[in-house]
Amino acid sequence: MDRLTSEGESINESMTSHHHMLATIFKEWKRLRKRNGKKSLQALDKLAEQLLLHIEIEEKIIFPIYEITFTGSAAVTPILKQQHTRIKEYLNTIRKRMPTGLGESFGLDTEFARLLDVHNATEEYAVYPWIDELVGSEENEMVFSILDSFCWNQLNRNSGRFQEE
Ligand SMILES: [Fe+2]
Ligand SMILES: [Fe+2]
Repeated sequence: MDRLTSEGESINESMTSHHHMLATIFKEWKRLRKRNGKKSLQALDKLAEQLLLHIEIEEKIIFPIYEITFTGSAAVTPILKQQHTRIKEYLNTIRKRMPTGLGESFGLDTEFARLLDVHNATEEYAVYPWIDELVGSEENEMVFSILDSFCWNQLNRNSGRFQEE
């Protein structure tokens, strides 16, 4: 099975790479939407699939590690979880409004992109850097094993599938 990370890569770097991957799919969706309804819908579905997996990794693995040390008002995770709920709502709403995959989504994608930017920046600044600090090298290996078994193959699945012929 493919590893989640390259040798020596930190959990912080690995999760940040996921954000970059998601941003790439988002741009691809916007580009395709102007000209190819079917592929645009596929890209949107891929964005949803990957975002939901990403959120699941965070809520089941990353945030619980963070919350061992950061609790109460010191923790940013309650806000991040609320944002996850909003991200899922945006995905659902946009999908419903784009039955053909073409056209505008009434400015929602701009709001959605803004939320994702703020959300990801907060995680990259306030959560991910701590994860490598909070787990020792043995646990770090364990976290990677869990992440790998979780979904790395799925996250990478069909990458590039939405290139236009
Ligand atoms: Fe998140
Ligand atoms: Fe994230």
